[in-house]
Amino acid sequence: MKRTNTCGQLSEKAIGKKVILQGWVSKRRDHGKLIFIDLRDRYGVTQVVFNPKDSKDAHKLAEKLGKEFVVLIEGKVCKRPKGTENKEITTGKIEVHVSTLEILNPSETPLPIELDKHLLAGEDQRLKYRFLDLRRPELQKNIILRHKVAKAFRDFFDKEGFLEIETPILAKSTPEGARDFLVPSRVHPGKFFALPQSPQLFKQILMVSGFDKYFQIVKCFRDEDLRADRQLEFTQIDVEMSFVEQNDVLKLMERCMAFVFKQSLGLNVKIPFPRMSFEEAMNQFGSDKPDTRFELELADVTNELKGTDFGIFNSVIEVKGAIKALVVEKGCKKLSKKDVDKLTEIAKLYKAKGLMSVWVKDTGIESQILKFLPEKTVKALLSKTKAKKGDLILLIADSWEIACNSLGYVRLAVGQKLNLIDGKKWNFLWVYDFPLLDWNDDEQRYVAMHHPFTSPKDEDLKLLDSAPEKAKAKAYDMVLNGVEVGGGSIRIHNEKVQEKMFNALGISKQEAESKFGFLLSAFKYGAPPHGGIALGLDRVIALMAGEDSIREVIAFPKNKATVSLMDGAPSEVTEKQLKELGLKLDIEKPLLGQKKQ
Ligand code: AMO
Repeated sequence: MKRTNTCGQLSEKAIGKKVILQGWVSKRRDHGKLIFIDLRDRYGVTQVVFNPKDSKDAHKLAEKLGKEFVVLIEGKVCKRPKGTENKEITTGKIEVHVSTLEILNPSETPLPIELDKHLLAGEDQRLKYRFLDLRRPELQKNIILRHKVAKAFRDFFDKEGFLEIETPILAKSTPEGARDFLVPSRVHPGKFFALPQSPQLFKQILMVSGFDKYFQIVKCFRDEDLRADRQLEFTQIDVEMSFVEQNDVLKLMERCMAFVFKQSLGLNVKIPFPRMSFEEAMNQFGSDKPDTRFELELADVTNELKGTDFGIFNSVIEVKGAIKALVVEKGCKKLSKKDVDKLTEIAKLYKAKGLMSVWVKDTGIESQILKFLPEKTVKALLSKTKAKKGDLILLIADSWEIACNSLGYVRLAVGQKLNLIDGKKWNFLWVYDFPLLDWNDDEQRYVAMHHPFTSPKDEDLKLLDSAPEKAKAKAYDMVLNGVEVGGGSIRIHNEKVQEKMFNALGISKQEAESKFGFLLSAFKYGAPPHGGIALGLDRVIALMAGEDSIREVIAFPKNKATVSLMDGAPSEVTEKQLKELGLKLDIEKPLLGQKKQ
């Protein structure tokens, strides 16, 4: 017997019809004579009623039903009695009176996790029993949205003449800056494949091969510490185009997001997106992914605080650092000293040495540093920050990067604490003109801020020899509501420029050859100018679904400790498997099938 309808389909129009439904018992209410169940499938819930008058057998069998039993029912669609309708669901005006019940499969009780959103288990329990967790309507909604969004992206790129081309998963190390996942080769002992951190090199080669417009919805792998917005394996919407400049990529991606949001959420996204240089973003919002849904901007008060007796200010100014300020309107009332202590902890988390506060009270200024500040300095500070009576000024003095960044996180925390963030807004933004290079203290050398194939701005090419830290890149990030949802760049397609870039990065000719030789070789045979971008699909969907963590929009994510709790990966392997791969473990863990001594 096949189902005639799904559990989310029947409405008043079907009253009087005989139907067959199949699904899971999500709730059972036993009122003695009448037994009610909520029958659930992917499409919705239908109320089903067992009345001995309709069928004694079905009613008797229904007494045995437990949560998550899989059943088939046959019955008649009836109008619900007045006053018992449920306006929240499409099937809320009807119920099915059952004539036949078949238990297709029972379920063990009690369930290891409750599926009711009000009784949710901890995340690790949910991930261990993900097969049950995924039955919850909230997660089903997210996974269905994910399908719709991915399809909308595909439709958009197809319509625009892009080709979806698959690139290898077993490949050579790629230059995205995270740790690689390595896969040992059995056939070539001692050699390893790397799982791609992105298809970066392959998509550039596809441009050399003349494919012109490429996209791919693709898994990428990065061995990095997990956060709410990071997974070891995640999905990119990866894009590359030939014969384009930065503006072409940005314009295309704006239209793309407008299309995808319209198709999957019915929302109208305003294009073009505002654009902000990296420097502006850091100076005004203390972030390269500013959340512009609330104003609260940073001010630079380095000049105003010059010439005081305060050692910290003076030493920061001496080494060309910055003093940044954040004015919290009516902060004297809205924030307590304790709140400021918490904000100080946040600032310290992002490398600031401290957070100073200046309370502009009706009775005068209060601050731990007031004794160091001459009257004219206080005046200058108030004038620059436009702080009024009742406001609170928060200050961080440090290197420009640390002062901006740490105060940026304080800004976000204040925004959240004071409910300044408008949750209904969809604030897209481009951040561009990123620095080309970033100094890495551990390695004592420059590393590429984006990746080594990102083109410097034409006018900054000469800086690569004289002042590489000042060179800016043709690189851009797409930001949505304070989340970096995508990043890309115009690439270097000229051998000489690439050589200069490797020099600046301290990558020798041999190293470049052994790491990226195949790309450099391809570039010798007519590389078109090209550029592209990759969006983090998981992040885009999490934002669309209103979820804080990307784990809520991935069917089978790893937990915070990078473990897949349902299948138990990563797990031990056998001695035989290691031997085949020519590997020996240098740790004390037991192998599969062995007991620890
Ligand atoms: P990038 O490294 O900026 O660029 O990555 C692009 C986007 O991918 C998402 N993302 C992640 N999402 C979840 N978990 C992670 N661990 C993770 N890492 C990155 C982010 C990010 O903006 N090859 C370049 C793109 C290019 O130049 O075309 C690249 O991968 O949303």
